[in-house]
Amino acid sequence: MRAPVLAANWKLNHGPTEAAAFLRAFCGRYAPRDDRTVMFFPSALAFAAAREAAAGRADLRFGVQNVAAHDRGAFTGENSAAIARDAGATCVLVGHSERRHVFGETDAETAEKCALAAAHELDPVLCVGEKLDERERGETERVVLRQLRAGIRRLTAQQRARLVIAYEPVWAIGTGRNATPADAAAVHAVVRAELRAEGVPDAVPILYGGSVKPDNAPALLAADGVDGLLVGGASLDVESWLAVVGAR
Ligand code: 13P
Repeated sequence: MRAPVLAANWKLNHGPTEAAAFLRAFCGRYAPRDDRTVMFFPSALAFAAAREAAAGRADLRFGVQNVAAHDRGAFTGENSAAIARDAGATCVLVGHSERRHVFGETDAETAEKCALAAAHELDPVLCVGEKLDERERGETERVVLRQLRAGIRRLTAQQRARLVIAYEPVWAIGTGRNATPADAAAVHAVVRAELRAEGVPDAVPILYGGSVKPDNAPALLAADGVDGLLVGGASLDVESWLAVVGAR
């Protein structure tokens, strides 16, 4: 069994002051454990403060929520994989559904971001997931596999071994309507089979995300093929995040 990965995606919440206060409180109550990995994805501007507040906690991983699909140059407002790495990030969310569906990110851009992240030694956390209408039309598998194949296509075998995959059905994100453990298990099995076909080692974890809360986290984490959780709303509050992180 893989050690579960519990990842907090703070989205557009928690500035430097709140992020630092959160990490100080969290570190005071969560002792390092070698049977799980905890990751934080603060806003880029809160990243340094969050990391500094957790100084000395090598067990916690910090990443950014997005990077540019360009390495450098005239791209006002963007952050590159190289800059994120220089700032101390070790991982990055790529292709989150909000990037895809709110900001119109394409599979080609996601592929470029994965390639740039890997080239700069940031582990890509590649997010995939279908929208409600796609699920209702029976297209879940087709959409998830298309996104997955695009994201990993340009990675070398060595880079693929450093991936994390997150299955986040769009209809479950921020809606309070989580996938059932059986729904998640079914899609995770499809993702795992494709990863194997692509030569990606079984050590690569597949996380579930979408309305994970302290009360449903244990059952989702116990579902077949679910190796961790990517959490939005329930990661914003120290109490509820401690409860999710302590699940299982
Ligand atoms: P919620 O947990 O708020 O549904 O968000 C899930 C998510 O998008 C994590 O990346």
